[in-house]
Amino acid sequence: MSGKFITIEGGEGVGKSSNIAFILSYLKDKNIDVVSTREPGGTELSEKIRDLLLDASNKAMVSDTELLLMFAARAQHLAELIQPALKEKKWVLCDRFTDATYAYQGGGRGIAMSRIADLENWVQGSLRPDLTILLDVSVEIGMKRASDRSTPDRIEQEKHDFFESVRNTYLKLAEASPQRYRIVDASQPLDKVQSDIAVVLDEFIK
Ligand code: TMP
Repeated sequence: MSGKFITIEGGEGVGKSSNIAFILSYLKDKNIDVVSTREPGGTELSEKIRDLLLDASNKAMVSDTELLLMFAARAQHLAELIQPALKEKKWVLCDRFTDATYAYQGGGRGIAMSRIADLENWVQGSLRPDLTILLDVSVEIGMKRASDRSTPDRIEQEKHDFFESVRNTYLKLAEASPQRYRIVDASQPLDKVQSDIAVVLDEFIK
């Protein structure tokens, strides 16, 4: 028996940060030993790769470089943090994981899903999340929230159609794996979003 691996997904401005803080305290209240992390990032080296990926001045970056850097950061993150924690029977709560690669590099950039699947199998072996919570909101609402928050990074500077593809790809992924995915309507007031998440967690824990 190893720990459980939970991932949180969604487009820009869906409210991941506040909901992750909620999930973390919800699990801790249930005496679950949980490690919170994020992608791209999560380790010192993976955070350096994140900086390269998000730096808006890296305008020359082509899609394949972006894809491979995502998986390079992920390989390091898995080896250094995620797999050791799961082995120690800790739960891992990760802000984005490989579904984000399918959504952004597959849906958004148009890279073949089969290429992403090859890298997923190579880097992860058989490891997949046990539960993925998709926070879903329209692109209009999400982009408005994200732009109110900070200056856009390299990926946030993409156009509306890119984020529509990201959202549609996430919804298709959720439809294809109903046993792993739970979709939460993140356009609702925060307290309603959190009570929906609590229902999902209760069902998962029992
Ligand atoms: P964040 O803003 O949620 O921290 O995520 C950083 C950005 O990286 C966000 O725009 C989504 C993007 N991303 C990908 O394009 N592919 C991936 O595999 C991951 C993990 C994130």
